[in-house]
Amino acid sequence: MVIDSKKLRKLFLDFFSENTHKLIPNSPLIPEYDPTVLFTPAGMHPLIPYFLGQPHPLGKKLVNVQKCFRTGDIECVGDSSHLTFFEMLGSWSLGDYFKKEAIRLSYEFLTNKRWLNLDKNRLSVTVFAGDMDAPRDLESYDAWSSQGIPDNRIVFLSKEDNWWGPVGNTGPCGPCTEMFYDTGKPACGPECGPGCGCGKFFELWNDVFMEYNQTCSGDYELLRQKNVDTGMGVEHTAAMLEDKKTVFGIAAIRPIAARVEEIASITAPTAIQEKSIRIITDHVRAATFFLGDERGVKPSNADRGYVLRRLIRRAIRFGRLIGIERDFLPELAELVIKINETEYPLLREKQDSIFEELTKEETKFKRTLEKGLRKFQRLIENSPKIDGKNAFLLFQSFGFPIELTKELAAEQGIQVDEQEFRNEYERHQKVSAASAKKLFKGGLSDASSQTKSLHTATHLLNEALRIVLKKKDIVQRGSNITPERLRFDFNFDRALTPEEIAAVEKLVNEQIQKCLPVKRTEMTVDEAKASGAQGVFDDKYRDTVSVYSVGNFSSEICGGPHVTNTSELGIFKIKKQKGIAAGVRRIRAVLEHKKGN
Ligand code: SER
Repeated sequence: MVIDSKKLRKLFLDFFSENTHKLIPNSPLIPEYDPTVLFTPAGMHPLIPYFLGQPHPLGKKLVNVQKCFRTGDIECVGDSSHLTFFEMLGSWSLGDYFKKEAIRLSYEFLTNKRWLNLDKNRLSVTVFAGDMDAPRDLESYDAWSSQGIPDNRIVFLSKEDNWWGPVGNTGPCGPCTEMFYDTGKPACGPECGPGCGCGKFFELWNDVFMEYNQTCSGDYELLRQKNVDTGMGVEHTAAMLEDKKTVFGIAAIRPIAARVEEIASITAPTAIQEKSIRIITDHVRAATFFLGDERGVKPSNADRGYVLRRLIRRAIRFGRLIGIERDFLPELAELVIKINETEYPLLREKQDSIFEELTKEETKFKRTLEKGLRKFQRLIENSPKIDGKNAFLLFQSFGFPIELTKELAAEQGIQVDEQEFRNEYERHQKVSAASAKKLFKGGLSDASSQTKSLHTATHLLNEALRIVLKKKDIVQRGSNITPERLRFDFNFDRALTPEEIAAVEKLVNEQIQKCLPVKRTEMTVDEAKASGAQGVFDDKYRDTVSVYSVGNFSSEICGGPHVTNTSELGIFKIKKQKGIAAGVRRIRAVLEHKKGN
């Protein structure tokens, strides 16, 4: 019997459950506790705090299937294997078993008749070769040998292939061992082996041994516990098990691509048409999951909403390339929902808003797409490149994400001045923010990196004042932050002495130098109070609040945005202080030598 993606999920979850792993729920695609990434990029991502030692409520052995999205892959979609949205099967040991048992479990799942029943003679593996940071992984080598994998099918590779780095710049990481299946295709040359990208060796699974923490200075320190993190891509592995040449051929995806072909009246797609069909299929699938997520996103011009908008607009443009004139996104989304509703009932529950958002975006973009494409054509007829102002014009007047302009330009062999576009964009943001006198919640003028840095510095200042002035009830009375400086008002009834000013600066700068991570956590107001987070607890807070912590130094209820690590801040300096009302003082401060200034 063919194992399709639904069956594969079931087998994986059953196997690990039988081996006493507890099933953890699929987390939202939009991470709940980590502001440093826009989307969950891997099954392990929601588990990072537990690799670091926090006890997991379900124990030390876990399994799940996780919705994932990789923004970096948007432009890779179109070949036979890339998807932006995919599901990942994962199993974990949090300080329980390590390499030997992980490899035994992997081998059993892949080769045992009850499970995937793959031919063990076609299995080969790679292990970490060792370098200055970590030793050659002989323990994994021994474990594979004892399962009967001969030496010529165990290959040692360097960090580039056999190391899982942290998500972001810091965090849990470690060597990995990858499992490959020989497809039987001829070798591409004498060097061909597992890890070679020619297609002969199909990558099945990755077991990562998270035993290190990469610090912000780039060093590796041993974690308190040794963890195992395994990840298997559902669609990718299903393509192999269903004997399909591409992920777009599997039972869970093919009907969507087939519908695109139908809508475009294509019966035998050319290679170029095939690429468009794949892009539309992938992007509509991802957009449907975004809109139908527990923490759903809507199309917009910032952050997650922008990625969603980019996907939708890209699908529309590639639709146009294969001759689709009519609206088609909701119809495809219905198919995505139908295929996935058993595993993701929320998609069906949210179907109306999914269709509504897709229709709105489709109507809006199609209105300007034609005109924008004509404008683009005129621009390139008159100039050998698209300058920043024109790229901004295409963005603002015709809704072209900069990536779309770049893509169109690349097709014509033309450059786009992206830096100038970004400057233009920021300049425009500042002007409109100033003219509307619109301030972000908490007194931020914009969300530039300078402003975010000063915002994080404000949290450090707030805590430093409480410590230096030995007055626990110091609270914020007002705050206003621009890209140039912060202004912070607080309850205090006299001027600070020069020594106190120096002590506050020193304490803040010490925290900056410690490269402390800035983390956001959502909790109830009661939990926030109990955790000791700062904040004026009044009615303005809803039931759940977000709390930003800077290392263990400060913790405050706040809507953000912040930088992700204090190492981004530069040197903190107080420029002025004055009394602005009875019992209220104001401090103005800046960050000097900030990177990028
Ligand atoms: N973190 C590894 C991966 O995503 C294993 O789960 O491949």
